[in-house]
Amino acid sequence: MRFGYFDDANREYVITTPQTPYPWINYLGSEEFFGLISNTSGGYAFYKDARLRRITRFRYNSVPIDNGGRYFYINDGGDVWSHTWKPVKKDLTFYECRHGLGYSTFIGERNGVRVEQLAFVPKGVNAEVHRLKVKNTSNTNKSIKLFSFIEFCLWDAQDDATNFQRNFSTGEVEIQGSAIYHKTEYKERRNHYAFYSVNAPVAAYDTDRDAFIGLYNGFEAPDSVREGACKNSVASGWSPIAAHQVNIELAPGEEKILIFILGYVENPDEEKWESKGVINKAPAQAIMERFETNEGVEEAFKELKANWSSLLSHYTLQSDDEKLNRMVNIWNPYQCMVTFNMSRSASYFESGIGRGMGFRDSNQDLLGFVHQIPERARERILDIAATQFEDGSCYHQYQPLTKKGNNDIGSGFNDDPLWLILGTTAYIKETGDFGILEEKVPFDNDEKNTASLFEHLKVSFNHVINHLGPHGLPLIGRADWNDCLNLNCFSTTPGESFQTTENQAGGVAESVFIAGMFVYIGNEYITLCKEIGYEEEANRAQVEVDKMKKAVIEHGYDGEWFLRAYDFYGNKIGSNENEEGKIFIEPQGFCIMGGIGVEEGLAEKALHSVAERLDTAYGIVLNNPAFTKYYVEMGEISTYPQGYKENAGIFCHNNPWIACAETVIGRGDRAFEVYKKIAPAYLEDISDIHKTEPYVYSQMIAGKDAVRHGEAKNSWLTGTAAWNFITISQWILGIKPDYKGLKVDPCIPADWKGYTVTREFKGALYEITISNPHHVCRGVKEMLVDGKKIEGNTIPNFTEGTHKVEVTLG
Ligand code: GLC
Ligand code: GLC
Repeated sequence: MRFGYFDDANREYVITTPQTPYPWINYLGSEEFFGLISNTSGGYAFYKDARLRRITRFRYNSVPIDNGGRYFYINDGGDVWSHTWKPVKKDLTFYECRHGLGYSTFIGERNGVRVEQLAFVPKGVNAEVHRLKVKNTSNTNKSIKLFSFIEFCLWDAQDDATNFQRNFSTGEVEIQGSAIYHKTEYKERRNHYAFYSVNAPVAAYDTDRDAFIGLYNGFEAPDSVREGACKNSVASGWSPIAAHQVNIELAPGEEKILIFILGYVENPDEEKWESKGVINKAPAQAIMERFETNEGVEEAFKELKANWSSLLSHYTLQSDDEKLNRMVNIWNPYQCMVTFNMSRSASYFESGIGRGMGFRDSNQDLLGFVHQIPERARERILDIAATQFEDGSCYHQYQPLTKKGNNDIGSGFNDDPLWLILGTTAYIKETGDFGILEEKVPFDNDEKNTASLFEHLKVSFNHVINHLGPHGLPLIGRADWNDCLNLNCFSTTPGESFQTTENQAGGVAESVFIAGMFVYIGNEYITLCKEIGYEEEANRAQVEVDKMKKAVIEHGYDGEWFLRAYDFYGNKIGSNENEEGKIFIEPQGFCIMGGIGVEEGLAEKALHSVAERLDTAYGIVLNNPAFTKYYVEMGEISTYPQGYKENAGIFCHNNPWIACAETVIGRGDRAFEVYKKIAPAYLEDISDIHKTEPYVYSQMIAGKDAVRHGEAKNSWLTGTAAWNFITISQWILGIKPDYKGLKVDPCIPADWKGYTVTREFKGALYEITISNPHHVCRGVKEMLVDGKKIEGNTIPNFTEGTHKVEVTLG
């Protein structure tokens, strides 16, 4: 069942009923000010860091779901309703929500009044703009009262939700004209405030939540709205809010425009005050002025759209498959940008207070968008590298606001360092900016202890070889990519975190997955070293990579597939010998991507086992059989009920690795089948089963052992986005950035006739047309660049101009 449709021309998903199977959200902002907004206007805003600078409040897992947001109410002669359906939930004669790239629009109509809202964060501005067009569609005069409402968060979202003994007494606001300023804690150490304004005179306002809503009411029935009059309440402690009341007279057919701004301002210490106790409002007023008129809004909106058009133009596909086009051209790159901005911090499943930026997550996220905004990728790489220690290990997470490693979770995830190599090589291949390798980057953010970025990559590589176990395979440490495979943890205390509990010493737990990664990423490291003339280092690395390959074939293969790991005691995990968890997805993907066992036929056998034991109609499960009891020696993986999350869920992030692996052995049909199974645009028709947004990937879809097989959770913030973009754009469609130029090496379904990719690369534009007259999966037979035949399948770097590339497979 569908709940809307794709409007590809406008790059929007159009939701036609407010009652989607789960709130379907969008993100506003992609610089410093961010908002999450659902199809019924729920959600919240924050500046940079969803935990430390939360601007508006949101109650996760609330009843009903998705309660709290930027709400508007209409009181039309006693009939109270909202054009976004929530919070009032009165029937609408028309409802529509369009989620676009960095903006959302809402239309709601009832009883001759139509409200059309546009919500976005203008580029370079720390504010959300909410433009409302209120129109009288009836043939009588209308006299309505419109109310706005947002609830401020007292900055630190965690503290805000827990520290009531203090917080109920600290709230402060200022009111000036139609602007309400939230200034809690500004009088002491904070130098920032938030504001909510409207570009029209207000009849009245409220800034105290209980005065506006009434202590025993919900958001759906605030006292002030029902009574048709705000109370001019001034918050003093408790819960500061901003609510405006605007009275509107409308003749038949008449429309009025109101522009609301929810903004954030930081003042330098010396400019904090206008006068004693009165905040300096000048920066806020400048923002309000800019959006005083609709022209200001239109201009900024145009700029936002143009920016997205330009970002998305770096890679575009024209194929016969409409769903594939919309994934590749619109929604997948869009999600990549959001995961780049948010890492795993703030979604409708990530509360914004749990996790900062993940070391491995952020490195992988940047793989997906590096071609769109290389400058920001550069900065990100340097930020991430600065949270590494001298021995190559690194903080597992860091806070986006401080950019410092997070001590609560610490380090010891032995796959982490390798991801830095992959992120950096992807960046250099895209940009040719080898100079980044010479940047001085601190260890553990200590400016007194720095090394070149290349040194950081070297210690990353060495960290693996300095931590090998008895089979010559990498020691796993706390966990590898699978945070829930905790082989040294042995936790028996309920509620204890598997990620932070002190590990038991003396074990020999090894990861075949890290071994596969080491070979794949080690090869990247070797190529880089050769590229910059470090022959000796390349040779040294080659010896280690070869040794690892051998170790995997000798000790990491189980007969029909790659083993997953050895546990603390040296027993096999992911082996036919095990009763549960006989086979795992991750090593099958990464070992084969590293080329291990391809010549020997082991790769093909392993992929056959994946298809036989792990595949389902909705994607490939992580392991099988699922764990039916708690294994203290395996940790969190065995805590989840069968079929959910890392215990045999379809953990989408690793599905693309199998698609990539399939291309390594040349099976384009199967690679695309794997890709398609979890690609949201192909799942639109089963939105009732899938539940999460049909325009973005979710982290997990319940596996075949689960009660709710096919149901997705944790949409938006997942490494799935970046990996699927790489898989489809580079491994399947086969346009791979390389040091020497763009490499063309498609691996596609045999029945495809062809397609065209337009790719911007190092200053030039390439229009690459692939024809497949002989219906093969792989193999470039001939390649013409600007009409001239070239040797091999790498387009040389032209650095400017537009170039036609004609590729024939066969
Ligand atoms: C989550 C984490 C990611 C991890 C994955 C598997 O998505 O963010 O770092 O690799 O789970 O456990
Ligand atoms: C939980 C999740 C896993 C995530 C980890 C780290 O274990 O199941 O997906 O990676 O937390 O926060």
